[in-house]
Amino acid sequence: MELVPLGSALGAEVRDLDVSAGLDDATVAALRSAWLETGLLLFRDQSLDETALADFSRHFGALEAPPASERRTRSEAGSVVCPDVWVISNVVENGQAIGSLGAGEAEWHTDMSYIEEPPSASILYGLEIPPAGGDTHFADMYKALDTMPEELHGRIAGRNARHDSSYTSAGDLRLGAEPVVDVTKSPGAIHPIERTHPESGRQALYLGRRRNAYVEGLPVEESEALLDELWDYCTRPEFVYVHSWRPGDLLVWDNRCVIHRRDSFDQSSRRVMLRTQIKGSRTN
Ligand SMILES: [Fe+2]
Repeated sequence: MELVPLGSALGAEVRDLDVSAGLDDATVAALRSAWLETGLLLFRDQSLDETALADFSRHFGALEAPPASERRTRSEAGSVVCPDVWVISNVVENGQAIGSLGAGEAEWHTDMSYIEEPPSASILYGLEIPPAGGDTHFADMYKALDTMPEELHGRIAGRNARHDSSYTSAGDLRLGAEPVVDVTKSPGAIHPIERTHPESGRQALYLGRRRNAYVEGLPVEESEALLDELWDYCTRPEFVYVHSWRPGDLLVWDNRCVIHRRDSFDQSSRRVMLRTQIKGSRTN
């Protein structure tokens, strides 16, 4: 097994490792420590079914099952093999989407920050990849915080943000959610903007997503301006790695210190990804 940096911002490629082979304790410990240090691991040319992906994912913690709405979509499409695996896809079969998020752009976000105990890791495996588009961008929120101008950093000190749960990262209103008219009252968890990573002990910027976010205690106009400034800052190219997918790519990222977004792609091409998510803990 060899570790090769994925460009200058974050992440490492793990070479010469078949993750579906039984991994010994030393290998798992090395992977976990590389994941904590670099924020993102890439394994190329893997051959996984749903069960093998779930088995590998458990090395990073306990799996968090998809919400009921996603499970229903899959069971209606008749595609559930492993109930802990999510499907991200634009493919429609027999009039039924086999997965979520479609073919549009997905905005910058960290996964499910709108819950009280957001996931620690997200794991995404590419089965079918469109010939163009659909790249996933990752940004390092340790670096963004570490290099933040003092004046901007001072404005978030001790502040918490509200993380709206109403919309998906693709901009769709979730099943049963109401459109948000007042960001100070949107449903969703409240987390510190500067959080302490529970395993590394480092401080990271924790923004969730821009849409309907709100910095608690500020007038809405001031909160909007501060959030715009923070988002402009933390998505600068020097913090970002852009991943162009190949079939068989497996990515594991740390949601506590890495955000991501996805480019759109042509709806007429197929993109099928399997995903798992690892349970996290409360933020502080
Ligand atoms: Fe995501």
